[in-house]
Parts: sequence; C-alpha cells; structure tokens
Amino acid sequence: MTVTETPPVVSRPDATAPTTPQPKYGLPPGPRMPKSLQSAGFMARSMPMLRRARDKYGRMYSFNVIGFPDFVMISDPELIKQTLTADPTVLHAGTGSPLGAVLGANSLLAIDEDIHLRQRRLLLPPFHGERMQSYADVFAEIADAEMDAWQTDVPMRTLEPMQRITLRAILRTIFGAHDESLETLEELIPRMVNHATKYLLLRFLHYDLGPRSPWGKFLRMRREIDAQLDALIAEAKADPELEDRADVLALLVQATHEDGTPMSNEEIRDQLLTMMVAGHETTASTLAWAVERLTRNPEVLTKLTEEVRRGDREYLNAVFDETLRVRPTVIFAVRSVQKEPYALGEYLLPVGTRIASPAPLTHDDPRLFKNPELYRPERFLEERPSNYAYIPFGGGVRRCIGAAFAKMEFAVVMERMLNRFDIDPTTEKFEPWDFRSVTFAPGGGGVATFRQRS
Ligand code: HEM
Repeated sequence: MTVTETPPVVSRPDATAPTTPQPKYGLPPGPRMPKSLQSAGFMARSMPMLRRARDKYGRMYSFNVIGFPDFVMISDPELIKQTLTADPTVLHAGTGSPLGAVLGANSLLAIDEDIHLRQRRLLLPPFHGERMQSYADVFAEIADAEMDAWQTDVPMRTLEPMQRITLRAILRTIFGAHDESLETLEELIPRMVNHATKYLLLRFLHYDLGPRSPWGKFLRMRREIDAQLDALIAEAKADPELEDRADVLALLVQATHEDGTPMSNEEIRDQLLTMMVAGHETTASTLAWAVERLTRNPEVLTKLTEEVRRGDREYLNAVFDETLRVRPTVIFAVRSVQKEPYALGEYLLPVGTRIASPAPLTHDDPRLFKNPELYRPERFLEERPSNYAYIPFGGGVRRCIGAAFAKMEFAVVMERMLNRFDIDPTTEKFEPWDFRSVTFAPGGGGVATFRQRS
C-alpha cells in the first residue's frame, strides 16, 4: 500500500552521506486484503496475523485497521530504538490514541510534549523506590483475603481473582487509606472496562445514541465513576492533613499548572482513571498468564515453588520477565508522525502514520532470543536482553510508569500463592490469546487446580 502523492522536501539527518540511499516517500508493503478484512482478522486472530505478515513482508510492514490512519509495524530493534527515543514533538504517543475516548482527553496516555512530561513527573514518585516498596505488606494482605475464598481441588479461573487483587492494590495506592467509597469503584471499574474494551477500536460506534446504545451505555458508566471521583477529590481538598499525604490523589489535588492555577476536577479525574485502568488489568493478565505458562512447564513450576519457599525472589523476577516475553499483555507501543514526514528505515512515512512496535514480534525472534519458543526464565539470569528487543513496557519518555510497581506486585501475589498452595501441572493445550482491544488475557482465564500446601 504505497502513497503516490508528490513527496514533500524534507531533510534527513544522514542525507549528506553520498552512499546513503534516499528514503522513499510512502509506506512499506503489507497485507493487500481490504481494510475491513484486515480489521476483522486483527480483532479475531491478532497474533497469527501479525506474525504471518512479519514472516512475509519482513521487519517493517504496513497494516490497516478501520477507523485509524495507516499503521506501520516494526520489529527491528534499531528501528524500535529510533522510534521510541524520537523527539516527543516529532512523534506523538497521545494524539489520536483510542484510549483518550475512554480515559479522557487529559489522560497521561492521551497527551503529548510539555504537558505530558510535567504530568508524568508528577505521577512517577508513588510508583518508584522506597515509596513503592512500602505498599508490599498491604498488597500481601489484599492477596491473602482474596485467596481465603479460593476453592481447592477443582479447576479454577485465576484471571478474575487476580483482577480483584490488582484493582484493590492500585486503589489503595491511588487513594491512600481504605475508604468504603472505594468499594463502589471496585464494582464500577471492571464493569466499565469490560464494556469499553469491546467497543474501543470500533470508532464508528462512538456516539451517544441513548442509554441502550453501546457508547451511550459507556458514557453513563463513566459519569457514575466521575461522580465517585468528584466526591473523593472534594474529601481530599478538605483534608487538613493533605500536605502530609503521599498518595496519588493528594499529589494531584495539590499540583498546579505552570501559571499557578490548580488542576481542574476533570483533569484530576482523567488521570485517576488512567492509573486505575492501566494499573490493574495489565498486571492481573500477567499473573493469570504466569499461572497458564507454569502449569504447562512443570519443571519451571517446581523450581519456582522451591525458590519462593526458600525466600529467594531472583528466579521469581525472572519468571515475571519471561512471562512478559512470551505473553506480553500490552500488544504494542504506538507513535504517530506529526508535522512533517518521518524517515524510518528505507521509508519517509507520511504525516499521520502510526508506527507500532508489537512486542510479540521481537520476543519470538530467534536472532534476538535463543530458542524463543521455550519458556525458560533462566535466560534472564544469564543475560539481559537489549532494551529494544525486549519491550513489554514500551520505551523512551513514554515507558510504562508502572513497570517496577507491576514487578513488585507480581512477586508479592505469587509468593502468597505459592507459599499457600501446591499447583497441579497440566497437559492441557495452551490457552489462546484473548485480545481485549489493548491487552491480551489468557483465553481460558488462566485455569489451574490448587491444593492446600502439603
Ligand atoms: C505487567 C504490567 C504492565 C504492562 C505489561 C504495561 C505495559 C505498558 C506499555 C507497553 C505502555 C506503553 C509504553 C510506550 O508507549 O512506550 C504503558 C504505559 C503506561 N502504563 Fe503500563 N504496563 C503495566 C503496568 C502498569 C501499572 C501497574 C501502572 C500503574 C500506574 C501502569 C501505568 C501506565 C501509564 C500511566 C502509562 C503511560 C505512560 C506515558 O505515556 O508516559 N502500567 N504500559
């Protein structure tokens, strides 16, 4: 699919080198089937489709999804590095992101350039260093309470229990002390996420045609959530001890814009919802995928159980890394070309092109990972892969702000689980990838049979 307009004149950093061929204005080749079929195939069988196209067209190819500008998929670490570390005024991550429709126009995931960097700086501290470590005990309590209700000796889906644990954990981090109003959010958020992910990529349905229409229903759920958040914001503003608080809500309520004006309720709400949604589905799916992978790799399961029971977290951290290598829960990091055409590889990509780096396409490349089909956490203890071959958290100034937080939370929950239960291995076929518009969850729900520890 090549654009045929006359190429605008732009300079390329290395254009002066006599031997460097000029990049071609337009898009690289890619699957030729109609946009509607590509979209349908992508929604139904994203992973085989992405891989087949990579095998046929190479590490840079075009792809089309209805309702979106042209996509270019890249899986060469050099191209990924260039894209993820590009000047944030040249490539945007927020502009045109479908997530803005759900999380709000002020969401960290929907903004760019200076305002993005300022908000990111504000939101980072609760998810790093000592502050983050201080949550571990609370997360263990939350995991224990959930696991008290797990049924043993019968196969059980782990995805939903993991979602309850990670949602409660992120709510505690965002709002500080437990409050009864958080229980309403615990019920509303998964309902809204389950509904919105069905329609997120179907942009032609994003109209409010009344309470029974798909988008109308979503907008009403969002209003219910906003009302809860407004109440929590008002409570925080009235808190005489606000300055001593370190939770995300307290930081946002006290933050000001460059001109000294406070953030509006709308801005605060969008950011809170972003943290709640981005901060729980992803980690829950990773935990459920770990269960799915471990039960199908008994040697890894046995070794991990022994290591955890000895109190050693090194192998557990490698299990986290390896699970995200073979089952990256977020499909890709996307950047869109702004202002002028962008030179990438042999192409000069037109303004508006969306460049996606799908993690599954580098993570299964035998040139980058030896025997990529094997689930072998040891590989992360032997050698760290390059930052642009291993990309479950994207990269550059948009790299996931919750990466360290997710790793810590994963470790705490797995430790509670493995110290409490023995898990049966299985010879069942692998669970398929269930594409939920942005994340991939195990299609069977991460089923396992737990036994009280012998
Ligand atoms: C295993 C769990 C997780 C995975 C796989 C994951 C993955 C990702 C990916 C791929 C991106 C896009 C990065 C890019 O465009 O370069 C991202 C961004 C983001 N993630 Fe995560 N994430 C996880 C957990 C979390 C958690 C726990 C939080 C909680 C705060 C979080 C909050 C965010 C936010 C706010 C962004 C936007 C960052 C920005 O645009 O500056 N994520 N995540």
